[in-house]
Amino acid sequence: MDNLPEVKPVRDMNAMSLNEAGERLFNFMSGWLGGAKLYHQFYGEPRLRRRHMHIAISDAERDQWLLCAKKALDDMSWHETESNELMQRLHEMANHLRNQDSLNTGCDSTAQHHCKN
Ligand code: HEM
Repeated sequence: MDNLPEVKPVRDMNAMSLNEAGERLFNFMSGWLGGAKLYHQFYGEPRLRRRHMHIAISDAERDQWLLCAKKALDDMSWHETESNELMQRLHEMANHLRNQDSLNTGCDSTAQHHCKN
């Protein structure tokens, strides 16, 4: 997030440090993907939509976030199938978290990282 100028709007939304946000994301994803429910353990119910309500998320912010996720995954050199599957799930969650206009643009959740709609 710090390295991509095009995601500055989303980067600047973070009140908590990126380290803190990254740790929370890790803890959430652990349980979300079938592992230990670390987020529950430390912070309680995730209720992610509610926890994102104080920040304005429309298609633009969603796409910036997903671009970062895609870059992070690319850096990890995962197997392409697994990487694509995870991107698809992240895309669905990111769509779900939108809370500003363009909620019904019919974004195709099978798009791998970037919604062009
Ligand atoms: C759709 C685009 C997204 C944007 C713009 C976004 C933005 C943010 C921001 C700015 C924060 C920090 C809030 C603060 O500092 O108070 C945050 C927290 C968080 N985000 Fe996102 N996010 C997005 C998508 C996602 C997705 C797809 C996931 C999960 C797969 C996720 C998981 C989390 C978690 C677990 C936290 C910590 C929540 C807490 O404990 O309060 N976010 N997000």
